[in-house]
Amino acid sequence: MSEIEKATNIESKESAPRIEVVPRDVLIEKIRPLHEKPDIAIGLLLSGDRIACCDEGVVAEQETKLIGVATIAPKGEEMSGQPTIVGLYVIPEHRGKGVGTQILKRAVDRCIERGFENIRMDVMSLNAMKIINKLPEDLKKKIDVHDLGNIMDNF
Ligand SMILES: CC(C)(COP(=O)(O)OP(=O)(O)OC[C@H]1O[C@@H](n2cnc3c(N)ncnc32)[C@H](O)[C@@H]1OP(=O)(O)O)[C@@H](O)C(=O)NCCC(=O)NCCS
Repeated sequence: MSEIEKATNIESKESAPRIEVVPRDVLIEKIRPLHEKPDIAIGLLLSGDRIACCDEGVVAEQETKLIGVATIAPKGEEMSGQPTIVGLYVIPEHRGKGVGTQILKRAVDRCIERGFENIRMDVMSLNAMKIINKLPEDLKKKIDVHDLGNIMDNF
C-alpha cells in the first residue's frame, strides 16, 4: 500500500457510532434531516401515525450525523395497548456494519428497563428478521414478532 493509500485508509476509518435513548422532542429534531430526502422506508416507518405514537427513540450518530434510529411506542400503534418497537431504520450507506443490530438491542433493553414485557415488532424485512434471530435469547424472548414479509428490503 502506498503512503497516499495508507493516509486515505486512516482518514476513512470511521469512529464507532454513538447510541443513545432520546425523548420524543429530541427524536423528532434528530430525524428531521431524514425527511429532507425521504425514501419509502422513511415515509412508511418514521412519519404520520407511526411517529405520532412514539415517546422515545434510540438514535445512532456518527460525529453529529444521524445514521440510524429505532422508535418506541409505549402503547403501540393506534393505541393498541401493546408496547411496540415501531420503526427501525439505518441510512443505506451505513447498512451491513452492525448499526441496526446495536440500535435494536438498545431499544429492546430500553423497553425492558421501562417494564415492558411483550414487545411487539411488525417485521417487514428479512434483514430485520436476521437481526432479531441473532439477538441474545433473553432479549429475543421479550419480542412478539409479527412477520409481515420482506417488502422493506427493496428500500
Ligand atoms: C433492516 C435494517 C435496519 C438493518 O440495518 P443494518 O445496519 O444493515 O443491520 P446490521 O448491519 O446489523 O445487519 C443486519 C443484516 O442485514 C444484512 N444487510 C442489510 N443491508 C445490508 C447491506 N447494505 N450490505 C450488507 N449487508 C446488509 C446484514 O448482512 C445482516 O445480516 P447478517 O447478520 O446475517 O450478516 C436496514 O437494512 C434498513 O434500514 N432497512 C430499511 C428499513 C427496514 O427494513 N426496516 C425494518 C422494518 S421492520
